[in-house]
Amino acid sequence: MCGIFGYLGTQNATPLLLSGLERLAYRGYDSSGIAVAGQNNDLKVLKASGKIENLLKLNAADPIEGIRGIGHTRWATHGEPTDINAHPHTSRLGNIAVVHNGIVENFNDIKKMLKASGHNFKSETDTEVIPLLIETYLKSTPSLEEAVRETVNQLEGAHAIACISSNEPEKIVVARKGNAGGIAIGFGDNEVFISSDMAALVPLTSKVAYLDSSELAVITSNKCRISTLDGKPIETKIHQVDIESYAVAKGGFKHFMLKEIMEQPEAATSVLRGRVSFSPTKFMLPSLPFETKEIQGFSRAIFLGMGTSIYAAQVGARYLENFARVPASVENAAEFRYRDSVLDEHSLVVAISQSGETADTLEALSEAKSKGARTIAITNVEASAITRIADATLLMHAGPEIGVASTKTMINSMIVMYLLASYFAQERKNFSLNEVESHVHNLSKLPALLGDAIENALCTVKSVASKYAQSKRFLFIGRGLLEPIAREGAMKLKEISYIHAEGMSAAEIKHGPIALVDQETPVIAIALNNPLYEKMITNMSQVHARKGNVIAIATTKNSSILNNADDVLWVPECPESLQPIIATIPVQMLAYEIAEHLGNDIDQPRNLAKSVTVE
Ligand code: G6P
Repeated sequence: MCGIFGYLGTQNATPLLLSGLERLAYRGYDSSGIAVAGQNNDLKVLKASGKIENLLKLNAADPIEGIRGIGHTRWATHGEPTDINAHPHTSRLGNIAVVHNGIVENFNDIKKMLKASGHNFKSETDTEVIPLLIETYLKSTPSLEEAVRETVNQLEGAHAIACISSNEPEKIVVARKGNAGGIAIGFGDNEVFISSDMAALVPLTSKVAYLDSSELAVITSNKCRISTLDGKPIETKIHQVDIESYAVAKGGFKHFMLKEIMEQPEAATSVLRGRVSFSPTKFMLPSLPFETKEIQGFSRAIFLGMGTSIYAAQVGARYLENFARVPASVENAAEFRYRDSVLDEHSLVVAISQSGETADTLEALSEAKSKGARTIAITNVEASAITRIADATLLMHAGPEIGVASTKTMINSMIVMYLLASYFAQERKNFSLNEVESHVHNLSKLPALLGDAIENALCTVKSVASKYAQSKRFLFIGRGLLEPIAREGAMKLKEISYIHAEGMSAAEIKHGPIALVDQETPVIAIALNNPLYEKMITNMSQVHARKGNVIAIATTKNSSILNNADDVLWVPECPESLQPIIATIPVQMLAYEIAEHLGNDIDQPRNLAKSVTVE
């Protein structure tokens, strides 16, 4: 969580740091700060609670200047998002400044030790121990590099840090340990940029090196020297990045979230490209390194993720089990990593993470790999941390997603898992040639179906949203492949409207949640035409009988749904296997329109961040 940005070169660092932080704001936006080495190399620090605009105002009132600096946008873990708790944190003498992602798990012990040797703490953060430790190590070691190395080696947990000192003015030292966010180092002409991710470097450079876990880099304006945390030199590999794929702008849309919802038909086309062939019909996943024999030998699959990615995984696991007959389950990555599961080389573990940085998911995947399982990462971010752990990566190709609430990455992760399940079914001979053909045909219709679903939603969602926006809570129900979409609908609504919502199997509602049903608790029932439709109708009538308002998501032309629903959001008729993908559109748009009606900050909802790089 949190974003780190740094600059070292010949230009004034401050505007570059501030605009870099604005691009990283989706990673955390409760406070921000910069430290810039000015004339005489003295460090000047500006910090402000709240959004980055507050930091911009502070700098406008009393600008700071210098050719070297570091900055940070925070998502609070230890201590409230106040000015003092914002990063950078500085040493006792103010000559060392540090920005940090991660959690210092042994910070109480370190803090006690530092206090005993006379250090006072200004903030409530765990991070403050880092500059104080660096200062302490500098008494016994001559260089900032060594002091940072000693410090990071002493920190428990996962970390990404950047550090500057007024005593060694020509450099910035960065380090990574574990999975607490990335460090991308971008190269310009006699200038270097440091960022938590490549996307924030896009307007500045396309030449980039990535720091791996347990690595440290000493950066000067024309050089980057990387070594391991135990001091072994490592060659710096510079990648040329295709910056067009990172292009981001809101266009004419009021919010990134709305733009990203509208982009879904196009995103669906991108994810299919090169993975399905129409003549001859077949599925192709060239980035999977598994031989057919190995695919045939998998005895089980576990899908891992957090948040929206779990709900996508619940759809994906059902695809794999239904299509390729591989027993498949879904687990919360944070629980899985501590569960001591039984795995072997016939187990396939698939981790879904749009950001590729979620700490719980990365650790769970590493755990699975260490136990001998074969691993696949499904992510939207090329070269993100997860891709360096997994045996294989399947990219979502959704294009950059800036809205904190995931939309097109959810849709594209389900499509990737549809492709994976179909490819496995093809290789394991579970699909006949006709079935391959019919699935390829279904997928070819998907972008147009998504477009129709958006058109339908545009006609009805706004009025339904304004009718129910003042409700005290919502329940979302669905069955089969649509149960995860009910959960996702509740999640989307909570994230951006702050209205309490629960999603569940429609069968579950009578076992407790129905006690919540009253006239202020609408129930969204995803009741598309499929073999469980009649069961859904029964559950909906149970709600109706208790005077609950039912908003159905139903297949166009199914007018009989009106006997059991107060309002209807229509979606186009589609094959059952595509229903979860299509039904995601109205739940996304309902959440969006309710949040818009309530005047909320849709792209940066309170308390959230797009990538969570801490436990
Ligand atoms: C955070 C975000 C959620 C997201 C989850 C998993 O909690 O706020 O929107 O679903 O992380 O993110 P990932 O990048 O691993 O898919």
